[in-house]
Amino acid sequence: MPRRPWSREIYKTPELYDELCGDHRDDIRFYVDRAVASGGPVLDLACGTGRVTIPIAQAGIEVVGLDVSPLMMKRGMEKAETAGVSLQWVEGDYCNFSLERKFPLILIANHSIHAIEDYFSFCRFFESVEKHLTDSGLLIIGDLNPGSPGFDLHKVPKLSSDEVLSINRLEWSKGNREQKLSYLYPKEFVEIVEYNSFRVTEFFGDYDGGPFSPEKQHMILVCQKA
Ligand SMILES: C[S@@+](CC[C@H](N)C(=O)[O-])C[C@H]1O[C@@H](n2cnc3c(N)ncnc32)[C@H](O)[C@@H]1O
Repeated sequence: MPRRPWSREIYKTPELYDELCGDHRDDIRFYVDRAVASGGPVLDLACGTGRVTIPIAQAGIEVVGLDVSPLMMKRGMEKAETAGVSLQWVEGDYCNFSLERKFPLILIANHSIHAIEDYFSFCRFFESVEKHLTDSGLLIIGDLNPGSPGFDLHKVPKLSSDEVLSINRLEWSKGNREQKLSYLYPKEFVEIVEYNSFRVTEFFGDYDGGPFSPEKQHMILVCQKA
């Protein structure tokens, strides 16, 4: 069954997103370094308001941002103009896109993969990525670890570690907004990657390159085609 395109309330108000997340900088250096190492072009899936896309462009790397929300990208375009950089913005669903070109680096930052609500859509996501990634290219997924102690922050019920694809509610602290998001546990995530003919070549628990362990807040998966 085809998935519905994403149209959550938070992404209709990009100013609110930037108020909540715009200042998050802890992952920027990581992505910019990887973008520079790849030589570009880079594809930033679910680019939103360009929080990561714009710094990559500022580093002189060609970058394409893709997002399902024109409002998020409109704000991103304004920010890019202010920053004096040009980049390509594409409206599209990361589970079904066709750009007719390949990239040595595709990334999906700030747990944007949580918008995927079922296994079928995960398969479509990896199918689309597979078509756009060069043979030795890297897919980087920046996600949160629902098993970490800090995850209480998001007010989701604690789940046992053997639970599969857990759909929970996240409550934003402002404006009584809430979103339905899926949270994958580390083992399940690696299995989904492998089921979809990719392999995890590096697995970090923070953006300084520290290895993943169960108490880490972040799950950063660097994947390649198997
Ligand atoms: C948490 S924001 C992250 C934005 C940006 N990557 C960042 O790091 O700040 C999630 C973004 O995912 C986008 N999004 C959600 N579902 C999507 C889909 N199916 N295809 C493309 N973009 C999607 C939303 O519109 C939103 O801009």
